[in-house]
Amino acid sequence: MNILLLGSGGREHALAWKIAGSPLVSKLWCAPGNAGIAREAECVALDVADHAAVIAFCKANKVDLVVVGPEAPLAAGIADDLAAAGIKAFGPSKAASQLESSKGFTKDLCKANNIPTAAYERFRDVDAAKAYIRAKGAPIVIKADGLAAGKGVVVAMTLAEAEAAIDMMLGGGFGAAGAEAVVEEFMTGEEASFFVLCDGDNALALATAQDHKRVFDGDKGPNTGGMGAYSPAPVMTDAMCQRTMDEIILPTLRAMKARGMPYKGVLFAGLMITADGPRLIEYNVRFGDPECQVLMLRMMSDLVPALLAACDGQLKHFDLRWYPDAALTVVMAAKGYPGDYAKGTVIEGLDAAAAVDGVEIFHAGTRADGDRILANGGRVLNVTARGASVRAAQASAYQAVDRIRWPDGFCRRDIGWQAVARES
Ligand code: AMP
Ligand code: GLY
Repeated sequence: MNILLLGSGGREHALAWKIAGSPLVSKLWCAPGNAGIAREAECVALDVADHAAVIAFCKANKVDLVVVGPEAPLAAGIADDLAAAGIKAFGPSKAASQLESSKGFTKDLCKANNIPTAAYERFRDVDAAKAYIRAKGAPIVIKADGLAAGKGVVVAMTLAEAEAAIDMMLGGGFGAAGAEAVVEEFMTGEEASFFVLCDGDNALALATAQDHKRVFDGDKGPNTGGMGAYSPAPVMTDAMCQRTMDEIILPTLRAMKARGMPYKGVLFAGLMITADGPRLIEYNVRFGDPECQVLMLRMMSDLVPALLAACDGQLKHFDLRWYPDAALTVVMAAKGYPGDYAKGTVIEGLDAAAAVDGVEIFHAGTRADGDRILANGGRVLNVTARGASVRAAQASAYQAVDRIRWPDGFCRRDIGWQAVARES
């Protein structure tokens, strides 16, 4: 079959690598892709925001399945437009994508269905929000309702920080995404990510992961899109996964179906594992980046039949096999990220790094210039390894990192530290 993958990050490189390995696939394209994806797929310069152009490409090239990587095209309704044109797409409809594109929508859905999450209120008015904040006290969490590229959350440790966040968000700091704010209870516990495939009615658990959002070692510095991840997350025991399914995921699928917006695609639950059990922090309607990279390395089965089963409502009797190993990914970023950084710097040593046993290098933001690979983004490479333990995967990943010559890049040196500490 012919597949078109949409996106250009490390998540999409990992998906392209996995999809390209499927014997079912005769042709794989990726739009727009990157220099690493170009080794797995034919990259096409399609504007993903131009749905008519994507549909025309699919018809001209007899594309059987479109796999959507990032959230923005889903929130813009690409799955609906493809379906209307008779083209199968993996990813939720625009309405179902509200689980990520509107935090208020998700909080209301949780409240109506007794799904455990932080207590909250929604606000458009600055004075009302501040009155609520003063009544609740700090620490307290302020979130922009809409998509804000992972930057829309302020965990305020003081009332002054919380009030400043309200002024900034409702004052237009995130544009339309912040026209409404959710103010919620601060939860304590250990965070974990839980991924499931959904077909509208059924959910198939994929795997768990933990990421490192802060830019510097010791989980210090500003938040980023993710500086590394590992799988499985030790806190997600079988019992905790089952509770998450029963108390969070399945009630969400039932509620979405009842609202006439059945959820199909991958659902990424960001969880806080509290003393009372799992509570939902947020949903994303796509694979995590860089969590996808570790998931794909651990998945033994062919991914493509699973994606088709999700599209076709056939997950009930579906199963996937996984390597028992752990996987870990280290993000290499351009110096300055998540602030300003330079593009176009030269990266060398990638082949030697990829030769380390158990290592796959996924490109997140690169472009080719003849034979040279140049940095072309903030997060640039995902050095990913599988191993018998998180410690073993970590050792392989850093062995590969140390073979990469890129003076203008940096990475954290402690990815996986919590899991490694638990193993020893
Ligand atoms: P999000 O973008 O919603 O994942 O939030 C970013 C980060 O903010 C999360 O990974 C948590 O570390 C933190 N966070 C979000 N909501 C809460 C909450 N209610 N209590 C404590 N921490 C939170
Ligand atoms: N790594 C977090 C995310 O993809 O949202």
